Formats: sequence, structure tokens, C-alpha cells
Amino acid sequence: MQTKTAIITGGGSGFGREVALQLAKKGTNISIVDLSKENGEETVRLCKDLGCDAIFIQADVSKVEDVKKYVDQTVATFGKIDLFFNNAGISGSGVRTIECSVEEFNTIVDINLKGVFYGLKFVVSEMLKTGGGVIVNTASLGGLVGIPTLGAYSATKHAVIGLTKAIAGEYGRENIRINAIAPGTNETPMVKAYPKEAIEKMAEAVPMGRLGQPHEVANVVSFLLSDESSYIHGAVISIDGGAVAL
Ligand SMILES: NC(=O)c1ccc[n+]([C@@H]2O[C@H](COP(=O)([O-])OP(=O)(O)OC[C@H]3O[C@@H](n4cnc5c(N)ncnc54)[C@H](O)[C@@H]3O)[C@@H](O)[C@H]2O)c1
Repeated sequence: MQTKTAIITGGGSGFGREVALQLAKKGTNISIVDLSKENGEETVRLCKDLGCDAIFIQADVSKVEDVKKYVDQTVATFGKIDLFFNNAGISGSGVRTIECSVEEFNTIVDINLKGVFYGLKFVVSEMLKTGGGVIVNTASLGGLVGIPTLGAYSATKHAVIGLTKAIAGEYGRENIRINAIAPGTNETPMVKAYPKEAIEKMAEAVPMGRLGQPHEVANVVSFLLSDESSYIHGAVISIDGGAVAL
């Protein structure tokens, strides 16, 4: 079987790193894209330890020239792009929406929405040249319901779902499969740093009574990026212990 090539944005931490490790175990060539050189290079090291070929590309997904760079560099290194986990994102400082500064609102839009669009723009162009591929965009539970104090975040994640659905309608016949995931709160490094009481309160609000673990999200992303999910297209998959059901 031909070796597949994947690009993972936000691959230096959290979901991105977990997905990288799962794809590495399948022997995938991997481009790790992240702002953080230290974390991105650490993911590359972990992937290589699992026997795959991996490179780190330092890039800011909110800068169109950086996005073109990570796409071009991946194609120059591995020849093509089969899989794309369009995942890098940030949340927000947790204030009521009108108290969010214009600067912070713009930054969240630049990374969470424009960054996802730029990635789709250049990656889909490459996939069209090579006969197709599979894409997973990271939305959020906050893309399906409004999260008070995370207005900009919720707005951009709703927008990621809109982009996913629109583009799925455009490229399915050209063998490009595109889905979105909507994770609930997961114990990534950021959440783990919260006070114990805050974590317990968040867990209580989830029907399953606990927060998610990054590998539980990565399991779904790996499935969506594999041929096992060959007829899932334009879907938004919740991974949230039932939180969206309330
Ligand atoms: N953790 C959760 O509970 C949760 C829930 C729902 C959705 N999400 C979404 O999942 C995605 C990944 O989150 P995570 O929890 O793994 O976070 P994380 O902070 O652990 O990882 C995100 C990575 O993205 C990188 N990054 C941030 N801005 C960037 C930029 N402009 N350019 C390139 N890289 C950048 C960071 O350096 C970091 O390595 C995000 O889109 C987030 O909104 C997370």
C-alpha cells in the first residue's frame, strides 16, 4: 500500500499531537504545523520514534503566506497531501461578549476561522491535483451551542461548521471527503491546569459525568481520516459525553 501523507495544524499539543501519534503508528508521513517550535519538534520526535517520517513546519495559521508555506513544504518533502487535520485554534479570555476587546475578537477570528479557510484553500487545491483526500476540521461543542463568555470562540466554531458543510457540497464528487468534529471539554494541558473544583463543576454538567480525554477525540479523527469512514461526508461529529444533548 502507498504511504499516505498528513498535515496536522496545532500538532504540537493536545488533539493535534494525539492524532499525530495515532497516524504515526500507521506509518503515515506527517507534517506537524505549529507556532511553537519546541512543542512541534517534540511531536516530530515522538512520531519518528514510532517509525514514521515526520517534519516540523513553524507557521502561524492566521497568516496566509505561512499557510501557503506549510502546504508547499509538505508537497516538496512528501510529494502530495492525502490527509489534513485542520485543527489549530484558541479559545478566549472568558469574558462576556461585549467586554471582549476588538483586538482579541479579531485574533480569534483570524486563527479559528480565517486559518481554517486558508488551510482548506491551499490543501484542497493540492488534493485536486492528485485525485482526492480526506479532511477533518476542528469545530467544537461551542460550534453547535453558544458558550457564554466565549462569544468570539462560539462564533468562529459555528463558522467552521458552515464552511465544512459548504465545501463538502462542492468537492465530494472529486473524491475529497470533508467532516468536522465538535469536541466537548477535554483534559488537554490547558484544561488540566484549571483548579480541581472548576474541573469537577465542568464534569458534573456532562451527562457522562466526566470530561473527555484527548485520545478519545483522536480515535474519532483517525477513523474519519481512514477509509473505514468512506461514506461519512459533510458531517459534524460530536465527541462530548452527551453534552450537546442537553
Ligand atoms: N480542549 C478542548 O476541550 C477543546 C474542545 C473543543 C474544541 N477544541 C479545539 O480543538 C483544537 C485543538 O485544541 P487543543 O485542546 O488540542 O489545544 P492545545 O492548546 O493543546 O493545542 C493547540 C495547538 O495549536 C497551536 N496554535 C495556536 N495558535 C496557532 C496558530 N496561530 N498557528 C499555528 N498553531 C497555533 C498551539 O501552539 C498548540 O500547540 C482547537 O481548535 C480548539 O478550539 C478544544
